[in-house]
Amino acid sequence: MIPFNRPSFLSDELDYIRDAIARGQLSGDGYYTKRCNALITERTGSPAALLTHSCTAALEMAAILAGIGPGDEVIMPSFTFVSTANAVALRGGTCVFVDIAADTLNLCPDAVAAAVTPRTKAIFAVHYAGYPADMDRLAAIAREHGLLLVEDAAQALGSTYKGRQAGNLGDLAAFSFHETKNIVSGEGGALTINRADLVERAEIIREKGTDRSRFLRGQVDKYTWVDVGSSYLPGELIAAFLLAQLENADRVFDTRRAIVARYQSAFAPLEGRVGLPVQPADTVGNGHMFYLLMRDLEDRTAFIAHMKAQGVVTPFHYVPLHSAPAGRLHGRAVGPMAVTDDISARLVRLPIYLELGNGVDQVIEAAMGYLGRSERRVRTAFI
Ligand SMILES: Cc1ncc(COP(=O)(O)O)c(C=O)c1O
Repeated sequence: MIPFNRPSFLSDELDYIRDAIARGQLSGDGYYTKRCNALITERTGSPAALLTHSCTAALEMAAILAGIGPGDEVIMPSFTFVSTANAVALRGGTCVFVDIAADTLNLCPDAVAAAVTPRTKAIFAVHYAGYPADMDRLAAIAREHGLLLVEDAAQALGSTYKGRQAGNLGDLAAFSFHETKNIVSGEGGALTINRADLVERAEIIREKGTDRSRFLRGQVDKYTWVDVGSSYLPGELIAAFLLAQLENADRVFDTRRAIVARYQSAFAPLEGRVGLPVQPADTVGNGHMFYLLMRDLEDRTAFIAHMKAQGVVTPFHYVPLHSAPAGRLHGRAVGPMAVTDDISARLVRLPIYLELGNGVDQVIEAAMGYLGRSERRVRTAFI
């Protein structure tokens, strides 16, 4: 079986974990956490990065920093993972779901502009498949209405937009190091903070609402409860594993980009029969994902069954949030959702991981077995 994803071990993960144990600190914010924070700021160019135990945690921190409360609205795509929305719902805010652009599958700026109301507090922009959203236009909308612009960069570490790194394109950005991502620590994440006035509060929120970080730096002589917060920081063993991954990130990005390019060129002649990813203008992806857009739900179901029979796992996502039970409870759709509803029924993802190697040819061959056959069937029917 060719799995959809397989976490890779890149080099010194075990050595670093042994060293972390030898150093004697297993709780967070020790030597390895600080080194990871430093590597993330170095890569993204963001002034501050804080490791979290997930992207979900980083998004929750962003919602607290945005001051979301009951009645406040946050505009986001419906075509995203539940964590983007949960962060807002947990604060009692309202998720305002809008449609995505049909080509890039990222937030449609026109739909965002049309959804702004006096209650809007923030925009949560997802960089789908690792390709950054149209951040200049979203930033202009955010500036015009005084909104916080948050990047859900769960999939986007290492991607760029107009030469700038994902994670440094909004006020705040949330990354994921879940094992399905490019750079992994099992569960893991980070928040980058691009506004100097939010850094100290972010540290406090992450440390259970206490000023413990200031205490550890010797800036106060005791620490106490100063704000709301939770336990959002990972332990040192996770950070030790992650550091080895971050140090080898470029190898991962290069290999995955090569796999994406191979898929793209193999399926290009079938464009029309299947839809292919469209790289947004002025962006460079990180090779996070490759997907095909089938004709309809029936076509996708048959394709997935065919691939499974050929030993290849090809999952789909997302179930649109605006029509999910919790989505209806905690949010509302604004504007048409035609693209979201259409894409979520047709999109299927192909395997990508570091050691896929010649497996990529096997995946392509298996897919061609289906697409070529159904292509002939369609032509015959047409004649
Ligand atoms: C767009 C998006 N946001 C948030 C998350 C949540 O990430 P984590 O599992 O690190 O909490 C994911 C994970 O798949 C995601 O794809």
